[in-house]
Amino acid sequence: MPDRLHWIQEELQNLKDAGLYNRIRTLSSPQGAWLVVDGKRALNFCSNNYLGLANHPRVVEAAREAAEKYGVGPGAVRTIAGTMDLHVQLEKRLAAFKGVEAAITFQSGFNANLGAIPALVGKEDVIFSDELNHASIIDGSRLSGAKIIRYTHCDPADLARGLKENRNNYPRALVVTDGAFSMDGDVAPLDKIHEVTQHHSAILMVDDAHGEGVLGRGGRGILDHFKLHGKVDVEIGTMSKAFGVVGGVVAGNPLVVEWLGQRGRPFLFSSAMTVPDTAACLASLELLEESTGLVDKLWENTRYFKEEMKRLGFDTGASVTPITPVMLGEAPLAQQFSRELFEKGVFAMAIGFPTVPRGKARIRVRLDGGFASPALFDFLDDEPNVEYVVAMASNAVLNRHAEEGMQYARALSGLAGRSATFFDFDNDGWLDLVVAGTATTSRGRGIALFPQFPQRVEVEFA
Ligand SMILES: Cc1ncc(COP(=O)(O)O)c(C=O)c1O
Repeated sequence: MPDRLHWIQEELQNLKDAGLYNRIRTLSSPQGAWLVVDGKRALNFCSNNYLGLANHPRVVEAAREAAEKYGVGPGAVRTIAGTMDLHVQLEKRLAAFKGVEAAITFQSGFNANLGAIPALVGKEDVIFSDELNHASIIDGSRLSGAKIIRYTHCDPADLARGLKENRNNYPRALVVTDGAFSMDGDVAPLDKIHEVTQHHSAILMVDDAHGEGVLGRGGRGILDHFKLHGKVDVEIGTMSKAFGVVGGVVAGNPLVVEWLGQRGRPFLFSSAMTVPDTAACLASLELLEESTGLVDKLWENTRYFKEEMKRLGFDTGASVTPITPVMLGEAPLAQQFSRELFEKGVFAMAIGFPTVPRGKARIRVRLDGGFASPALFDFLDDEPNVEYVVAMASNAVLNRHAEEGMQYARALSGLAGRSATFFDFDNDGWLDLVVAGTATTSRGRGIALFPQFPQRVEVEFA
């Protein structure tokens, strides 16, 4: 290895030693409640596919049809090669869905932030940024050259203090916050942030990546959640999460949108979203417009999961959204937890520094939209040392086969001498049993999975 690159090897080894090295698992199945991960069937606890749209037949069909009609690539950047009618349609429909006047798409949410922030403020200006904002906001802010003042997480009073002390020293000020925070699942107090921002005549920008398709009426997002339509200047979005595709969007004030078409650098210097992506996003949007069913199911599953995790003694932090962190502390413990869950057929990635602060490593759970509605049989029969056993059965199974389901669950519980709860994760009429738990081990509170249980039990009811 050339000497000039030797440092990389050392740094990689440091990451490994600190338990911070990312090992990426390979999927060979579509997104859904169950995945094939590194060749093994596993429950999906970690995608952003909140509504199950990534593999929805109508979304897939829309992408296929568009590819047949238009091909796949956009040709070049839109200002050079012209814009496809599909992109224009998507922008109009996204703006209407979010209840704002205009929208412009980017290739990703990350690019939307990199494009929007430097177009709005420059090196003479100031940015007030929540201390836990997403990396793309941080990078977009740095790229702008503006002075960055971080305020305490979700604290409008600290923001107000910062604005009061500093605002008048700069021609333009931008206040920027995540809507739903991607690592903790808490939601910015946008109504209060709006008030403070107004008072100091600053531009307000919110990144609604985890609010679209999740918060507000039928998933219309954080502005709808707080009834702030027309009051937030810039709303960043992504189609890579609830929409199940990929792509970014900046929505809001039409002047901002027009300006980004002239000065948003990823818009001007990088090709547009691909044709299948754009058509797929339109289909996802249509599904959201038609019914609130998918969003309702997401919240039903989320509430159930959170309640159960709390009941079982886990610390799920300050989350009020489907992003549910399971706080574990040190990165090596989180990685071990994740590895052992995987051995038991649950795919739940550990998240550590630098994605979250040191000492706040966690498993971050998002239930894929392909999960069936929750319903449970709960057999409480706690044993010393064992905090819980979780297994699950679907409403569908319950409704159709309540009696048989109950009998089976009792038998299984008796067999195992543990409490059990059942779901049918993939709504295929088979009970899916997941066994995982925490226990007090010699190393303190940690993971104890129950080797005497089968990894997954399937029961078919006649
Ligand atoms: C708050 C926030 N903004 C932006 C992004 C980037 O979105 P995309 O995947 O579309 O680049 C993410 C993704 O993790 C995010 O959580």
